[in-house]
Amino acid sequence: MVPDLSPDLSGALGAALDDALDRVPAARLAPVVDRLIRDYRSGTVPTAPILRTDDDAAAYAAYRMPATHAAVVDVLERAAARVPEPVSLLDLGGGTGAAVWAAAQVWPSLEQATVLEAAAPARALGRRLAGGAPSALLRGAHWEAAVLGTAPALPDTDLLTACYLLGELAVPVRDAVVDAAARAARVVVLVEPGTPAGHARILDARARLLAAGLTVAAPCPHDGACPVTGDDWCHFAVRVGRSSRHRVLKAGSLGHEDEKFSYVVAVRDDDGTVGRAPGRVVRHPHTRKGLVTLRVCEADGTLRDTPVPRSRKELFRHARDTAWGDAWPPG
Ligand SMILES: C[S@@+](CC[C@H](N)C(=O)[O-])C[C@H]1O[C@@H](n2cnc3c(N)ncnc32)[C@H](O)[C@@H]1O
Repeated sequence: MVPDLSPDLSGALGAALDDALDRVPAARLAPVVDRLIRDYRSGTVPTAPILRTDDDAAAYAAYRMPATHAAVVDVLERAAARVPEPVSLLDLGGGTGAAVWAAAQVWPSLEQATVLEAAAPARALGRRLAGGAPSALLRGAHWEAAVLGTAPALPDTDLLTACYLLGELAVPVRDAVVDAAARAARVVVLVEPGTPAGHARILDARARLLAAGLTVAAPCPHDGACPVTGDDWCHFAVRVGRSSRHRVLKAGSLGHEDEKFSYVVAVRDDDGTVGRAPGRVVRHPHTRKGLVTLRVCEADGTLRDTPVPRSRKELFRHARDTAWGDAWPPG
């Protein structure tokens, strides 16, 4: 099969959302958005599905999907240079399909995608959004009904994504899903909200992936203990433009929001070919005249503030162009 060229699918996703949601009155979705925000922020594992109706799925797609999509694109773009190109994708708890849209954008090599999702309204909307996408992967994606439990049977896949899912699973299910992911996939990508609790879930999952024999490809430049401890937690952020629908639904006036996320990308690296960043910038760089200071998670597992003065000419230029989440040093 001839792979698609790698288009920026954000615009196509925005158009698909407009097409699907423009006829749903904002006045009907706004209270649903409020309820979803409360449910997701409660910090408790839900005992019943959160997305129960078509309006629930529509509200989720309207106020969350652009942000989760942007976060997953950011993660996959950072991972892409470091892991083998996948042909198959399995997305767990795929909701309305944010991760499949992201993967289709980052990896034109992908030829087949399967989404396992418990909520029928989310599957239906996800299928509809993907149905007219300018990507054969999205149009041909399989949306399967699945409630992941303590003994998930997952098909083998090159790439497995589970984005904003772990927090909805009771700990025994979460552990079983991560273990099954490690058995099924060559590359496992887990993304959670960039909160202390989200980071804690990523750390637990990371430990299980390492115990299963996988190697961390990103963000950590090492397989050792995470040095971001105490009151701090490892997370990153991506800026997402808000549509007018989004501004109405969240009663916000800003034209953008910053989606914060924690993540891990782990690889079964049997032949030792996976490269990882020499270090990772884990905070906004601190810039003042003539000096950029980068907080870097180093390959030896330590956290270091790295000052780069203007006198280091070439390196200073690189430091000025370096962002939170980037590899350091460059090249
Ligand atoms: C917060 S949404 C994330 C959706 C999507 N991955 C994204 O990033 O936008 C979590 C999704 O996981 C699904 N989910 C929760 N528990 C599940 C389970 N045990 N098995 C399958 N799907 C589940 C929910 O129905 C929901 O669609």
